[in-house]
Amino acid sequence: MSSIIEAFIKILLLFLLLPSSICQLSLDALKPDHPIRDGDVLVSSTQIFALGFFSPGNPQHRYVGVWYNKVPEQTIVWVANRDNPVNDSYGVLSINGDGGLVIHGKDPSTPLWSANVTLSSPYNFTAKLLDTGNLVLLENGSQRVVWEGFDYPSDTMLYFMKMGLNRRSGLECHLTSWKSKDDPGTGSYTYGIDPMGFPQLFLHKGREASWRAGPWIGDRLSALPVMTATIYNTSFVNNEDEITLVFAVAKDSLITRVVIDESGILQVFVWNDQWIKFSSHPTEWCDYYGQCGPNTNCDSEKDYKLACTCLPGFESKSPSLSVGKTGCIRKAGASTCQNGEGFVKVARVKLPDSSTAHVNMSMSLEECKQKCLMDCSCSAYTSADDRGGGIGCVTWHGDLMDMRTFSDFGQDLYVRVDVTSLGKRRQNKYSFELTARSTYFEEAAGGLVLDDSRINLELLLFHLNTIATATNNFSIENKLGEGGFGPVYKGILYDGKEIAVKRLSKFSGQGVEEFKNEVLLIAKLQHRNLVKILGCCFEGEEKILIYEYLPNKSLDSFIFNETRRAILSWTRRFEIILGIARGLLYLHEDSRLRIIHRDLKASNVLLDNSLNPKIADFGMARIFRGEQTEANTKRVVGTYGYMSPEYAMEGLFSIKSDVYSFGVLLLEIITGKKNAGSYEKYPYSNLIGHVWELWKEGRAVKIIDSSIGESYLVSEIIRCIQIALLCVQEFATDRPTMSAVVSMLSNDAALPSPRRPAFLLKTMSPSGDSSSNKGGCSVNDVTCTIVEAR
Ligand SMILES: *[C@@H]1O[C@H](CO)[C@@H](O)[C@H](O)[C@H]1NC(C)=O
Ligand SMILES: *[C@@H]1O[C@H](CO)[C@@H](O)[C@H](O)[C@H]1NC(C)=O
Ligand SMILES: *[C@@H]1O[C@H](CO)[C@@H](O)[C@H](O)[C@H]1NC(C)=O
Ligand SMILES: *[C@@H]1O[C@H](CO)[C@@H](O)[C@H](O)[C@H]1NC(C)=O
Ligand SMILES: *[C@@H]1O[C@H](CO)[C@@H](O)[C@H](O)[C@H]1NC(C)=O
Ligand SMILES: *[C@@H]1O[C@H](CO)[C@@H](O)[C@H](O)[C@H]1NC(C)=O
Ligand SMILES: *[C@@H]1O[C@H](CO)[C@@H](O)[C@H](O)[C@H]1NC(C)=O
Ligand SMILES: *[C@@H]1O[C@H](CO)[C@@H](O)[C@H](O)[C@H]1NC(C)=O
Ligand SMILES: *[C@@H]1O[C@H](CO)[C@@H](O)[C@H](O)[C@H]1NC(C)=O
Repeated sequence: MSSIIEAFIKILLLFLLLPSSICQLSLDALKPDHPIRDGDVLVSSTQIFALGFFSPGNPQHRYVGVWYNKVPEQTIVWVANRDNPVNDSYGVLSINGDGGLVIHGKDPSTPLWSANVTLSSPYNFTAKLLDTGNLVLLENGSQRVVWEGFDYPSDTMLYFMKMGLNRRSGLECHLTSWKSKDDPGTGSYTYGIDPMGFPQLFLHKGREASWRAGPWIGDRLSALPVMTATIYNTSFVNNEDEITLVFAVAKDSLITRVVIDESGILQVFVWNDQWIKFSSHPTEWCDYYGQCGPNTNCDSEKDYKLACTCLPGFESKSPSLSVGKTGCIRKAGASTCQNGEGFVKVARVKLPDSSTAHVNMSMSLEECKQKCLMDCSCSAYTSADDRGGGIGCVTWHGDLMDMRTFSDFGQDLYVRVDVTSLGKRRQNKYSFELTARSTYFEEAAGGLVLDDSRINLELLLFHLNTIATATNNFSIENKLGEGGFGPVYKGILYDGKEIAVKRLSKFSGQGVEEFKNEVLLIAKLQHRNLVKILGCCFEGEEKILIYEYLPNKSLDSFIFNETRRAILSWTRRFEIILGIARGLLYLHEDSRLRIIHRDLKASNVLLDNSLNPKIADFGMARIFRGEQTEANTKRVVGTYGYMSPEYAMEGLFSIKSDVYSFGVLLLEIITGKKNAGSYEKYPYSNLIGHVWELWKEGRAVKIIDSSIGESYLVSEIIRCIQIALLCVQEFATDRPTMSAVVSMLSNDAALPSPRRPAFLLKTMSPSGDSSSNKGGCSVNDVTCTIVEAR
């Protein structure tokens, strides 16, 4: 993170030194006898912001706005007369006794906008644009501010702008979207503070809640990671004077803005040569308010059809099993009033809608629990401030609305359950502690997850003896296969639990401490589409990783097998594709680490009993970090046919090389054919080339695996082929990120046209002799190593 910030600072310094190219009349203050006319600009003292007339669309419509003076693409952050444009080129912004600040066109007798303040002697007032972007009207001498633009935000929140309610004046500030990209008029989306209950931030469309950023829980809003602290230090004030949220600059050279766009998405942008989107909400299905109905938890990692689960102690309201919009109700016959009830922790969630919650900042969590237990109407509790182990108390009464799980942040909530649900939970926990050595535990129904801070190395360590016994001394009969980094064995522990054991090859060149740290980091990666690591072992020369064992083997044993591939209908295959995409996205963006897999392929995707995909070998790239720099490696590890051209040929790897491998895998799942070695006869000698030819001719449908069954939508498969082709484009920059891929897979928005894919085999061996490449790989599905002479 800090290196990104440093880069920003460098870039900002660069363009702060550029000469200003503006040739209009620049003013530093607006005085009664010096109004601003259309064409003039008012600039702030260090020239960060400018104010003047602009037209976002129709040039006949002139608005007074504030923009960044040095950002080349005009970026409007504030608009005065947003609903009443000037229709001519005679627009004037002036100081006026009647109105304070007034905008009019050719006809001065009809003001189009006014600040609505009365000045008894306007000649004693001046208006200035501050370096924060705030237009202020000041009294000479006293410098008292009589009016400021920051009290009337448009669609953008800037540093030091206060959002919320001034309890004394009754003034309420919130963001309101533009009507459209070329009309800054008041749009239908608003983002502001709802002061009810435990106050929270809401994004509304009209009166309807669209997304809830949730209450302030000490260092963040409930639905946002603290991460934004690297850009902002946000402060929240709730006292008798005000209830407000303010962003301040963490680094004053950063240019960032929070904007709610005309389609109702709240976005954070950071300037770095261009506006870089830092985050946006709502984006995931579970972000939208109340998707699953009352008393549910929404989990975006699952397909949306399965995303909703009932909270512990509740059951689906609708008679069908799925939860859907109707939500959940208390289990039939369950008593939760003075009848042995208790609480179950639901980990890492966005706190439920708190508009009717009660808060007491002077209670401890234990006192909070007691208070909730005594009050039969209390349905859940937690601390009001998540810092330092929890401070204060919030209690909910009645239905719990709009909860969701986050993979790596969120707060724990304690939900009231009846004695039976409580007992079941204890039992589960007990049996879990007896058998599993790992701390991963997710109860299917409630989405309960143990706190990962409890993961420590002791829990993960296995003795070499245990592993040797479990694998029959690493016998050949137990060998499941050969992965990129060493052989994999099946093992059975004393208690009968099946495990997969990966014995790392000796060339890792990594010290034991490093190895331990890596295992700990990787152990914290938890996602349902990643194979779980249970532990590790290092003794003498041995470095071993222990994983959960998945009996159904890998995806390749299905899709490339004439008989087994029929098991995978299109619906199944689509679920598998989506699962792999989500797992990869988690590695790339959602986990605390950024992991580039580097060897994604069909044989590294395992299927569990329900045929859910789980990516294996994802920690390898980090475990072998010793030999590689951030973006370049001498030792190219990967599998022929899945390697992006820049990686195979130059050793350059990035998240985009994984995206390339994902694209190849996607095509293989659709076609049931291997990329490498499938098409000796075709001019491009691989699957990508063949699909590309058919795609160009509009005949891509021909490539669909015939054993996929009958019941599918051709358009859906064609869309997947298009997504795959986008992923395998020749230039890494053209390829989408995994978050874009996941969203393309999950909605029907129009897709860009793919550009020419990389024809790796052809490029690498122009003679067509595909076995004669530099590193000596054969064109099969075995991971190979190319050592480049450098
Ligand atoms: C601006 O033009 C619109 C139609 O183009 C008209 O309805 C409106 O009255 C005009 N406003 C002024 C101030 O002339
Ligand atoms: C001034 O008052 C008018 C009429 O009540 C209102 O429409 C407008 O929004 C007010 N202007 C500001 C800046 O509050
Ligand atoms: C108010 O201040 C402005 C600028 O500081 C100055 O030009 C103007 O003359 C002052 N007016 C009075 C009445 O002092
Ligand atoms: C305006 O300023 C002048 C001189 O600075 C002062 O004499 C006068 O009282 C002021 N008027 C008001 C209404 O404050
Ligand atoms: C932001 O951080 C700076 C330095 O740590 C501090 O001086 C400032 O008061 C903070 N601002 C807010 C709004 O918290
Ligand atoms: C908050 O809790 C404390 C300690 O239990 C109690 O003394 C106080 O009355 C409570 N405040 C309110 C407003 O309920
Ligand atoms: C494994 O090897 C060790 C030493 O080579 C031997 O003592 C032991 O009996 C072997 N165990 C099994 C299960 O083969
Ligand atoms: C997956 O594995 C389970 C358990 O071994 C087995 O019952 C099931 O038939 C397998 N499914 C497929 C499709 O092979
Ligand atoms: C394909 O799967 C079947 C059934 O699991 C198995 O018997 C057969 O050996 C497999 N074929 C190949 C070529 O692996």
